[in-house]
Amino acid sequence: CGIVGYIGNQNAVPILVDGLKKLEYRGYDSAGVAVCGGGAIDIRKYKGRLSVLEQRLNEAPLSGTLGIGHTRWATHGEPSDQNAHPHAGGTGDIAVVHNGIIENYQQIKNELTALGYEFRSETDTEVLAHYIDHFYEGDLAEAVRKVLGKIRGSYAFAVVSGKEPDKIVCVRKENPLIVGVGQGENFAASDIPAILEHTRDIYLLDENELAVIRKDSVRFYDLAGNALEKKLLKVDWDAAAAEKGNYAHFMLKEIHEQPGAVRNTMTGRVSEEAAGVTLDRISLTREDLARIGRICIVACGTAYHAGLVGQYVIENLAGLPVDVKVASEFRYNCPLVDDRTLLLVVCQSGETLDTLMSLKEARKKGARILSIVNVIGSSVARESHDVLYTRAGPEIAVASTKAYTAQLIALYEVALQLAALRETMSMPEIEEFKQQMLGLPARIEEALKLSEPLRLFAGEHAQVRDLFFLGRGLDYAVALEGSLKLKELSYIHSEAYPAGELKHGPIALIEKGTVVLALLTQETLYEKMVSNIREVKARGAYVLAIAAEGAPAVDTAADATLRLPAVPALLAPVVAAVPLQLLAYHIAVARGNDVDKPRNLAKSVTVE
Ligand code: G6P
Repeated sequence: CGIVGYIGNQNAVPILVDGLKKLEYRGYDSAGVAVCGGGAIDIRKYKGRLSVLEQRLNEAPLSGTLGIGHTRWATHGEPSDQNAHPHAGGTGDIAVVHNGIIENYQQIKNELTALGYEFRSETDTEVLAHYIDHFYEGDLAEAVRKVLGKIRGSYAFAVVSGKEPDKIVCVRKENPLIVGVGQGENFAASDIPAILEHTRDIYLLDENELAVIRKDSVRFYDLAGNALEKKLLKVDWDAAAAEKGNYAHFMLKEIHEQPGAVRNTMTGRVSEEAAGVTLDRISLTREDLARIGRICIVACGTAYHAGLVGQYVIENLAGLPVDVKVASEFRYNCPLVDDRTLLLVVCQSGETLDTLMSLKEARKKGARILSIVNVIGSSVARESHDVLYTRAGPEIAVASTKAYTAQLIALYEVALQLAALRETMSMPEIEEFKQQMLGLPARIEEALKLSEPLRLFAGEHAQVRDLFFLGRGLDYAVALEGSLKLKELSYIHSEAYPAGELKHGPIALIEKGTVVLALLTQETLYEKMVSNIREVKARGAYVLAIAAEGAPAVDTAADATLRLPAVPALLAPVVAAVPLQLLAYHIAVARGNDVDKPRNLAKSVTVE
């Protein structure tokens, strides 16, 4: 999760450890350094806090003027000393630190195992280290380039070799990496805060660029080995702004990280290269499914709202009946759970006690447990039969954003897998759905452009007493999440209603000036929604419509309309959630609230 590299005249160890400390806020489960002093590479890496690494380094000091360090947030293999980075390649001449995912690591691992390489960890990173060793013929950058031609996935990594102790080689694809320039010393890092204390002169590595960092020079190359000219940038952020990637709050940063979170959650699972979906860790078979009569989704808060989308999608694609229950209710009322139930647990932290207790209860009753979790090796993950990890990365803001959209992606993947096993979708249908999913990161980017109009809207309506969210079908599930975000952040009372249900009661609350947010992303329900907008307008409401491109007659019905890129109905929640997150964010900012730590809330609730 955090990368730091140093080459110069000073001892690298304290510089690496201090740099990693500056990235601690991002969350991690293990830490390590590799240092080259006198030709040999020495690696120290431990599960736990940086203080563990520091203590061990105090007991048995290391020194060297070249080194790389890493804080890990597990993605392949649970947190342990072995799985911590750096990873050594070959006989230990090479050390690698890596962020991201190598998609085809299993295939390369098989290849390398056949060549006699021995693996000491469960990580995809170790594959990189051995692979670089395998291609090494006296030129580290050349070996890295060869590896890049063979690997698929998203990554940023830094490599050092005991045979060339005068350089660090770095590359990046879909993961950040920067190079810091000093006097007679240079740096590499995944994030600016790690090196801000030493230099403000940086190069931003672009996609598929390779950097060779020496103590008094930095050179850049493309994948073919051609030299590149890059512009040196001056960072004028203070340390606090740097932590947030120059966003005002972690929440805003995390909202903007959603294209990446969504892409990472699809990596290796939904791709054009392989037919169907590839969910390695889910061992459910056709026979298991033949026995399973129903699915029950349990979760809390935002994860519960993801579950509501999951219910709709699984029922539609895989034709299985699905119930969704709030975990704190489920545990005390789950009489129909038995060995024919598939319990689908959705949990960002993997530690929410209500969710964990529901899981244990259902497991006792014989249910098969499949969990969608963001934190590797967490309690929920450990207690489950099968786990599908979301790869949203650590979420720091209390209000969940990127974890939610990543959960939606994981739920689509489960739905596709179930549909394939049950043959409720044909292969071409599955491929078509995957194509649409692969387009989602770009659609989210477009939706993020609504930030500015929503900021203006928020400025005008920040003092409203209540706000209503209306939607039908999947838009209702998204409305619930939008309403929760608004409550959590702005402390404004808000309700989400299925738009058709309004007339059966809550319409009594609509009066002149009541603000209503109407969602229109479900094509078959556009007309019905427009009628509902007219109903509340007739009673004096002010309506902001958030409507897919092409939804007709909205502009004339609503007071204001913001347009979302059109995506197929089942995938629309991933895009529609974005403006609602931004709305809650901007209203909270306008009201002067503590956006990243709203009152009374905790990120992970481990009490019942
Ligand atoms: C807390 C957080 C919510 C979160 C919920 C479930 O209440 O404040 O943002 O959605 O827990 O968390 P989980 O880790 O189980 O997804």
